[in-house]
Amino acid sequence: MNPIEFKRHRRLRTHPTVRAMVRETSIKAADFIYPLFVTEGENIRNPIASMPGVDQFSIDLLLKETDEVVDLGISSIILFGIPSGKDAVGSGAYDDEGIIQRATRAVKERHPNLVVVADTCLCEYTDHGHCGVIHGMDVDNDASLELLAKTAVSQAKAGADIIAPSNMMDGFVAVIRQALDEAGFQHIPIMSYAVKYASAYYGPFRDAAQSTPQFGDRKTYQMDPANRMEAMREAESDILEGADFLIVKPALSYLDIIRDVKNHVLLPVVAYNVSGEYAMVKAAAQNGWVDEKKIVLETLTSMKRAGADIIMTYHAKDAARWLEEN
Ligand code: PBG
Ligand code: ZN
Repeated sequence: MNPIEFKRHRRLRTHPTVRAMVRETSIKAADFIYPLFVTEGENIRNPIASMPGVDQFSIDLLLKETDEVVDLGISSIILFGIPSGKDAVGSGAYDDEGIIQRATRAVKERHPNLVVVADTCLCEYTDHGHCGVIHGMDVDNDASLELLAKTAVSQAKAGADIIAPSNMMDGFVAVIRQALDEAGFQHIPIMSYAVKYASAYYGPFRDAAQSTPQFGDRKTYQMDPANRMEAMREAESDILEGADFLIVKPALSYLDIIRDVKNHVLLPVVAYNVSGEYAMVKAAAQNGWVDEKKIVLETLTSMKRAGADIIMTYHAKDAARWLEEN
């Protein structure tokens, strides 16, 4: 009688060093972009209840926070601003003395080699909380574009290294690219939130940035979570318009989309591991229901495995520390 034939996959798992040799994906601190929230005032550090471990910082304390970020080997931060006042057209977003502009100048002066990404949107600056200007009950696409382009130029003037438009207006990459070029910022890349879903996972962020829409929702500009083909259309048009990086957001429920985008494009792909994903892990960890370190490193590894080249994550500092320990 012939012996039963089967494969011995466990041969490659017997020894930790062999496992390390055949490991296909790795994460490192330099892969991360760390999101930070900046607020007016001095000596302010406001914890965000739904995002344990994440705070709003005034500019003076933000600088101390960036010292830690740099020491941990994290390459980059993305800044979100909480302005002192809001209005219908979000004028705080494109004010050269706005919160983000001042924060960017201060951070770049302190850490010239830390890459500062500016999130280009109006929702933190509008009194209605939408990502563009309102006409009737909806966001007016083309009227918003002009303000978003002004915002991007103002952020670049302040020293932002990368412009990351998150507003989901049609044509935002084209209009921002043209405005940056005309203002002499041909060298500044656009990291486009190309594939951004209308997601419940942004809840905690809207507490942190005080940017919850005051009426309606974002479904007329952000994507339907059920759609996959549409993600390819969004990616394709942003490439044609001149994007240099493509973001997929959220990440964890959208790993299939990250892989699709990765397989279809020749640009670096960025996964945004958003606030709600962070909050769920933190809540479970605080209850002792999961091992935070293991869960976080596994989650971030899965995003890289899915095809992300870069990960925006609130876990960046913890993950960088844990990776150093390992
Ligand atoms: C602003 C913006 C949002 C996020 C990043 N930029 C919120 C939104 O679209 O409502 C979400 C980030 C997160 O949840 O961590 N347009
Ligand atoms: Zn917005």
